[in-house]
Amino acid sequence: MENMEISNQFNNIYAGKKVLLTGHTGFKGAWLALWLEQLGAEIIGYALDPPTSPNLFTLLNIKLTDYRHNLLEKETLKSVVEKHQPDIVFHLAAQPLVRTSYTEPEDTFLSNAIGTMNLLEACRTLNKKVSIVCITTDKVYHNNEWVYGYREVDALGGYDPYSASKACAEIIINSYRKSFFNPEKDGVVQLASARAGNVIGGGDWAAYRIVPDFIQALAGNQKLIIRSPRSVRPWQHVLEPLSGYLYLGMKLLQGEKQCCDAWNFGPDDENIVDVKTLVEKALTFWPGGSYEIQEDKNAPHEAGLLKLDCSKAKHVLKWFPVLDFTQTMALTVDWYRDYNSNSSDIRSRTLADLNVYTNTAKNRQANWIS
Ligand SMILES: NC(=O)c1ccc[n+]([C@@H]2O[C@H](COP(=O)([O-])OP(=O)(O)OC[C@H]3O[C@@H](n4cnc5c(N)ncnc54)[C@H](O)[C@@H]3O)[C@@H](O)[C@H]2O)c1
Repeated sequence: MENMEISNQFNNIYAGKKVLLTGHTGFKGAWLALWLEQLGAEIIGYALDPPTSPNLFTLLNIKLTDYRHNLLEKETLKSVVEKHQPDIVFHLAAQPLVRTSYTEPEDTFLSNAIGTMNLLEACRTLNKKVSIVCITTDKVYHNNEWVYGYREVDALGGYDPYSASKACAEIIINSYRKSFFNPEKDGVVQLASARAGNVIGGGDWAAYRIVPDFIQALAGNQKLIIRSPRSVRPWQHVLEPLSGYLYLGMKLLQGEKQCCDAWNFGPDDENIVDVKTLVEKALTFWPGGSYEIQEDKNAPHEAGLLKLDCSKAKHVLKWFPVLDFTQTMALTVDWYRDYNSNSSDIRSRTLADLNVYTNTAKNRQANWIS
């Protein structure tokens, strides 16, 4: 591995483990696949084709078994699970965009809710000890536009179809945990869910997301048009929630029953800023760019203010985010600058970000690295 010590991460628990990763062709999935590859895991990916072109997954050339199927092909999904007998599953595959969910609500509900159920069903009939981390979102909460963060015990909700579909997934997960995977009874399946905020970082080209929009405008020497300047989100570098997912997965693999639950993984308050502040910070790392505010009064509803309370992860798991806002933005914007300048090999560039992140975590004495 390029300059990174890995045996000191997550108790080396992923070395040689069979990991089923759904959504490996997506933005977060590709980063997680790269990290798991470095940790020595045997990765089985299950997803549709990459959602964008270009895309990080293709650029990284990760060593894994690559299945391209829909979560709704339940017999295929079941046969993949049975064939590979995973030790742990990270479930990321989903239709993840609020805007798209307004034009494709049926696909969103089917992929996100029924797709999650199909995965849990495949694991239920596996007859083998398996841990599962299901990735939902901070948008699962009934949004009251509160100035304080949502906690795991707060009511689920969801105005738009995306948020509602992920809240449905949480209800399905909770039902499966209580009905079939009760940690107090059989303990064969350890099931947890993880709720994270808006992630940024190199390698995202999704539509309707502010960082990809921003980079596209800058790279084309165009003015960025900001449509929701006052929307406040918990921005975090993609590696932050991934460290939470991997740490939670480690705890499940170690049989820690109290971890079979829902967990928020969000940034510190410093990273909870509005879109305008995010853009102005990004411009400090890509000087010469400019923006214009054109509020879209006809835009479909999206939450204005959304914060997560991560006290539970901090106090029970001892997990915490390690990058400050400046580091988060610097890593993100610099990655795209390098990509656009064609000056470096993107796999090495992305591994360098992983290296910076793990070193920062070590310096800050994060519990998952020694
Ligand atoms: N990116 C964010 O800011 C963010 C924030 C909170 C939660 N999340 C969640 O994290 C996960 C990954 O998000 P992302 O940003 O990497 O999304 P992405 O669009 O980049 O990737 C989605 C992945 O899911 C796969 N997929 C979609 N529908 C599928 C289906 N029906 N069957 C099989 N595979 C399917 C795609 O092929 C792709 O691999 C999602 O569950 C998303 O809801 C993302």
